[in-house]
Amino acid sequence: MSESLATVSYIGATILFILSLGGLSHPETSRRGNLYGMIGMALAVLATIFGPRVTSGGYAWIIGSMVVGGSIGIYAARVVKMTQMPELVALMHSLVGLAACLVGFANYIDPAAVANLSHAEKAIHEIEIYVGILIGAVTFSGSIIAFGKLSGKIGGKPLLLPGRHMMNLVGLLIVIYFGWHFMHTESVSAGMVPLIVMTVIALLFGIHMVMAIGGADMPVVVSMLNSYSGWAAAATGFMLNNDLLIVTGALVGSSGAILSYIMCRAMNRNFISVIAGGFGTGGGTPASAPGGEAQPAGEVTAVSAVETAELLREARNVIIVPGYGMAVAQAQHTVYEITQYLREQGINVRFGIHPVAGRMPGHMNVLLAEARVPYDIVMEMDELNADFPDTDVAMVIGANDIVNPAAQEDPNSPIAGMPVLEVWKAKTSIVMKRSMASGYAGVDNPLFYKENNRMLFGDAKKMLEEVFVALKS
Ligand code: TAP
Repeated sequence: MSESLATVSYIGATILFILSLGGLSHPETSRRGNLYGMIGMALAVLATIFGPRVTSGGYAWIIGSMVVGGSIGIYAARVVKMTQMPELVALMHSLVGLAACLVGFANYIDPAAVANLSHAEKAIHEIEIYVGILIGAVTFSGSIIAFGKLSGKIGGKPLLLPGRHMMNLVGLLIVIYFGWHFMHTESVSAGMVPLIVMTVIALLFGIHMVMAIGGADMPVVVSMLNSYSGWAAAATGFMLNNDLLIVTGALVGSSGAILSYIMCRAMNRNFISVIAGGFGTGGGTPASAPGGEAQPAGEVTAVSAVETAELLREARNVIIVPGYGMAVAQAQHTVYEITQYLREQGINVRFGIHPVAGRMPGHMNVLLAEARVPYDIVMEMDELNADFPDTDVAMVIGANDIVNPAAQEDPNSPIAGMPVLEVWKAKTSIVMKRSMASGYAGVDNPLFYKENNRMLFGDAKKMLEEVFVALKS
C-alpha cells in the first residue's frame, strides 16, 4: 500500500471514529456508533499492516501477535459477565498504559529512532519518550488498582496516608528534576537511570492516586483513567510517528476528560479534589466495606411480592429506579414485562436513571435498551426528581447509594452532597434487594427505615417474577 493510500485510509478511520463517538452519545444511535467504530478500527489496522512502514519480515510477528491477542480478546468477550465489564475496561486501560511504557523504552534504546535527527528534533523526541512513559506508567498502575477495587479484590475504603499531598508534590518535583537530567545525558545508558526513577515514581503515584479514592468516587476515576489511556495512546503515536494513533488517542483522551467532568458534575464533586483523593472520606459516619452488613438504625417494614403487586395495581404513577442489583440479577427482561403490563392497565410508568447507577456510565441504559424498554420513558435523574411527590410508587430495583437520603440529610456522610433520586418523597417506596447490606460506597441507607418505605427482600429477578405472577392473577 502506498504512503498516500495509507494516509487516506487513516483519514477515513479518523472520520469513522468521530462518527462513532457521536453515535455512542445516545442509546438510539449507539449500535450505529459501534459499527462505525468497528469499521474504522478494521480500516486503521489494515492500513497500518499493509502500509509502507511494515516490511515483509514483520508480517510473521504481526500475525502471531494478532492471533494471540485476538484469541485472548475473543475468550474474554465470551466469558465476561455484564457486571464485570467495568473491571475489564480498567484492565484494558492498564494495557494501553503498559504499551506506552514499553514503546517508550524500546524507542529510547533504538538507535534508528534518533538517526538523522537534528539537535532540536532529538530533544523533542526525548520529551515525547519521557512524557509518554510518565502517562503510561500512571495509567498502568492506576488502572490495575482500579481493576482491583472494582472487582472487590482490593477494599473500596480510601487509603489516606499522612502528608499524602506533600508526597505527591515531592514526587512531581523529583519527576521534573530527573526529566531535566534525562534531557541532558549524553548516552542511552546514562539516560536510563532518570527514566527508570521517573517510571517507578509514576507507578507509585498511580497506585497512590487510586488507592486514596473513596468508593463513591470510582466512576470519576474510571472515566479519568479512560482519558489517561487516550493520552497514553496519543503519546505512543508521537513516539512512533503515527498520526492516526495521535488523533485516536486525543479523541479518547478528550472524550474521557469530558466524561470525567460530566461525572464530577453529576456527583457534585470538584475534579481536583477527586484526584487529590478524599471524597468518600467525609470524616463523620465511617464507611463500611462495600456490600458489608450495615448497623441496623431502626425498624424496616418488609412486604411480600403479592403486597407489592397490590401497591402497583392501585398506583397511577410509578417510577422505577434500577441499580447495580438489577444488573447482577439480570432482571431487566422481567422489569420490561411488568412495565408493559402496567402500561396496558393505564398506569404511567417511567424509569429514573442516576448518572452513576451500576458500575459504568450508561450501565442501566444499556440493560434497559437490551430488554426493549422504550427510550421515551427512560429519564435522567434531573428530569424527574421533582416528580416524586406526585408519584404513588417508587420501585427501587437493586439500587442503594443512588437513593440514599443521607447524601442530602447528613453533612457528615461519606456521600454528602452527591445528588440522589428522591424516592422517599413518593407516597410509597419499595426497595428490592436481598439483605440490609450497604451499596458500593459502604454507607448505611436511612431510606430503608422511613415510614413510607417497604422492603421486598430477595433476588431482584426472582421477586419481580413473583410480582408479575401476582399482578396477572
Ligand atoms: P449500589 O449502591 O452498589 O447498590 C446495589 C445494591 O444491589 C446492593 O445494596 C445490593 O444489596 C443489591 N443487590 C445486589 N445483587 C442483587 C440481586 N441479585 N438482587 C437484588 N438486589 C441485589 O448500586 P447503585 O445504587 O446502582 O449505585 C452505584 C454505586 O456504584 C455508587 O456508589 C457509584 O458511585 C458506584 N460506582 C459507579 C460506577 C459507574 S460509572 N456507574 C463505577 C464504579 C462505582 P444486597 O446485597 O442486599 O442484595
